[in-house]
Order: sequence, then C-alpha cells, then structure tokens
Amino acid sequence: MATSTPTPARAERPASSPYSRDSAEEVFRRTRARELALSRLLMAFVTTGLIFMLFPGTLLGVWNLLEISGRESAGLVSPAWLEAHGHAQVFGWIGSFLLGIGLYSIPKLRGAAAQAIRAAWVCWALWTMGVALRWSATVYLWEWRLLLPLSGVLELAAFLIFFRIISEHRPQDPAKQGLEPWTWAVLTATLGFLAVVGMNVAGCFYVSLCRDSPAFPHQFDQRYVALMAWGFLVPFVWGFSAKWLSVFLGLKALRTRVLLSALAVNSSGVVLAIIGQIRPATWVFVLGTALAIVAIRVFEPRDQPAKTKGVHVSFPVFVRIAYLWLLVAALLGVGASIWDTSGGIWGASRHALTVGFISVMVLSIGPRILPAFAGMRLLWSTKLMLAALLLLSVGCTLRVFSEVLAYQGYAAWAWSVLPGSALLELAGLTAFAVNILGTFLLQPSHVSNQPVIMGIPEMLARGNPPVR
Ligand code: HEM
Repeated sequence: MATSTPTPARAERPASSPYSRDSAEEVFRRTRARELALSRLLMAFVTTGLIFMLFPGTLLGVWNLLEISGRESAGLVSPAWLEAHGHAQVFGWIGSFLLGIGLYSIPKLRGAAAQAIRAAWVCWALWTMGVALRWSATVYLWEWRLLLPLSGVLELAAFLIFFRIISEHRPQDPAKQGLEPWTWAVLTATLGFLAVVGMNVAGCFYVSLCRDSPAFPHQFDQRYVALMAWGFLVPFVWGFSAKWLSVFLGLKALRTRVLLSALAVNSSGVVLAIIGQIRPATWVFVLGTALAIVAIRVFEPRDQPAKTKGVHVSFPVFVRIAYLWLLVAALLGVGASIWDTSGGIWGASRHALTVGFISVMVLSIGPRILPAFAGMRLLWSTKLMLAALLLLSVGCTLRVFSEVLAYQGYAAWAWSVLPGSALLELAGLTAFAVNILGTFLLQPSHVSNQPVIMGIPEMLARGNPPVR
C-alpha cells in the first residue's frame, strides 16, 4: 500500500523498541500479523452481530408485528418477546458491532497487542454468551430466574473488559492538548452504554427475584429504552458522524462547541427521562437533535466531493435521510408524550430512531468501513448495498406512518400495511447481512499480500481509499 506517510520504522517504532534492530521486512511482517489478528477479531464481532440481528432480532420483530397486526392490538403480545427482540437488536447487533469496531480502532491494541487481543476475545465470548442466554431464557422461559441475571452479569463482565482496554488508551499525539470533539461524543455514548448494561443487570435481578415473568415492568422499561436510545445509540452515531462524515461526505468543518452543547442538552434529556419526566425529556431531545444537525452540518452544501469509491454513489443521500429520521423520531416522541393512547406513537418514534436513523446509518457507513477493517477487502456488491438501503427505507416509512394510524385507531386499513412493511425491513437487513458476509467470505484480503504501513482507521479518516 503506497501512501505518503512515514515508513513503519519511523511511524510505529519507539527508539527503545525491542524491534529497533529488526529489518524493515520483519517490521512489515509483524505489522501485517497484528493487522490480521485484529481483522479476525473484528470479523468475529461483526458476524456475531449479524446473526443476532437476523434471527433473534429481526425475525422475532417481524413475528411480533405479524401477531400485533393479526390481533389488531399491541397489548395482547407477550412483553417479554418484545423486549427479547429489542435486546437482540441493541445489544446483539449494534452492541457487538460497536465493541468490535471500538477494539479494532484503539491504537493501544495496535501496538503491544498480544495480551490485549486475548482479553478482547474473552470479551467477545462473554458478550456473545450473555446475549444468547438472555434471548433464550426470555423466549423459552427455561430456568429464566437463574439464566436472566447470569446473562446480565456476563454482559457486564464483557463490557468491563472492553472498558478496561479502552481506558488504557492515550492520545496518539501527546503534543495535542485535550480530546478531539468526536471523542467527547463517543465517551458520552460509552458511559451511556455502561449505564444501559448496568440498568439491564439491575432489571434482570429485580424480575428474577420479584416478578412472575422475565419482562421488565412497563415504567422501568420505558426509562430503560429511553436511556438505550438517547443515552447510548444516538451519541455514538453523533461521534461516528463527527469523525467520519466530514471526510466521507466532504462536509464543512464540524462546529465543535455546538456539538458539545448538543451532547450536554441530550444528556440532560436522558436524566429527565430516567427520573420519569418523560414529557419535558422529549422536548429536550428535539433541541439536542437540532443542535447536533447544526454542528455536523449534514444538510449544508458540501466543501468537497463525497468519497464514494468502493461503495454505492447514493450513500451520502441515505446519510442525510437517516438524520431526517432522527428529527422525525424526536418530534414523534413529543407527539407520543401528548397524544399516545395505544403505544403506537411511541413505537413509531422508537423505530424511526432505531430503524430509520441507527440502522440506515449502519447500512450506509458499515459498507464504507467494515470491508477495510476486515483485512482491506472491497465491498462484495455496491448494488446490494443500494437494494438494502432502499428496502429498509421504504419499509421504515410504511412502518412508522402506519403504526401511528393503526395502533391509534385513526385508520383501520393501516393494519394491513404493517406486515408488508416488516417484510421489506427484513429483506433490507438480510441484503445488508449477505453483502457483509459475502465480503468476508468471497473477497480477498489485501493485508496478506501488501505491506501495511499505517493503521487502516487512520488511513480512512484521512480519506485514503483502503485498497488500490
Ligand atoms: C424488521 C424490522 C423490525 C421489526 C418488524 C420490529 C418490530 C418491533 C415491534 C413490533 C416492537 C414492539 C413495539 C411496537 O409495537 O412498536 C418492537 C420493539 C422494539 N424494537 Fe423493533 N423491530 C424491527 C427492527 C428493530 C431494530 C433494527 C432495532 C434496533 C436497532 C429495534 C429495536 C427495538 C426496541 C429497543 C424495542 C423496544 C423493546 C422494549 O420495549 O424493551 N427494532 N420492535
């Protein structure tokens, strides 16, 4: 890989390094072996995430929606199954992706890696076991009083290993004072993630000791889902947007202070939601969202052309659509706090956020970064990427609008739209999974036959294509 950056001998090796007498070839060999080990780790997290997303997550979500549509009421479907679906999607899919990408990107892990990589594999095993156990115990009810808290403890243990590894990370350039703005967003989100994992363990112990079903009590669940959505998922995407979008979309420079205000406002909304002040919290989420959009400048004219090499050229459009969904989700939250009588407006707001914003972002940015992180591969199919994004966006639009109309009793015909919307979303998410797995299995890795002379995340952040 030819780049204009310094050679590895100068870029990666401190003067006192044990490798200082090694030949350049030896340094390349070690760097490549480390990159391959990290790619394998990332692919394990991503593949596990895709499996959780497809089967325990989306299929169960579709099944739940078919049941709700068949009975024309959300109240008659097992709350434990609804929560099992949400957990598989947020912890199983998004959580696994974030842990994998986080561990892969940390420069510390890219240095003296052997021990940290072993710890990262333990993190993967505990996390996967925890999420799988949680789903099976909730759905099959087998020994759930024991397995539910155990699953929460396993997830917490995995998260603490991740936290320990990342907390040892120090800025690469000690001359730079303070943290970069995107790091603040990711840090806030990581603390939100910790809070969600902690609240989940508390909820698991509570229901196992005091309740007749593994479902969290409704009020607790409402606050828990608000923390999950606005305290964890949203700031993570803002952090990723602040880091990558100016390069990938050619956006104007980030408005740093506005982003920090957005984070502060959003965090206060999360606190309000957790103490039960849901209605004021929804207004605060609208303000935080508006500030984030102003900060990231996602709807402003570009400074430079978008970098669409290796992905479908439409991807900047979908990133903007995702941010529109975030705004819709926040506004529907306000509407829900005033008018909801059926769970329909809350459900629509939640899915505008989780499917419209989070999933559309993952389906847009994932194909841009995951193939590069997985051993410098090229995306298997850019057409499949477009198909996935189109199917998911159409499915989400039908879902969000007909959920409000049907659940609230405004239009009976909307019940018949919901099953089709779920199948479109399922098709879109399946196309994404097939594309990423096809990339891992069918595309050659360019790490094995090209020298790697700088970290791939850093290369992408500068806008260099990962493979030439
Ligand atoms: C095919 C796509 C999907 C379908 C058909 C679906 C369906 C459902 C249904 C029927 C509910 C019950 C509440 C309601 O009626 O709205 C629900 C709740 C939920 N869904 Fe989805 N969903 C899908 C995708 C997703 C995705 C991609 C995520 C996250 C990334 C997600 C996260 C959640 C969460 C967090 C809940 C709340 C669970 C709780 O109350 O604890 N869903 N979903």
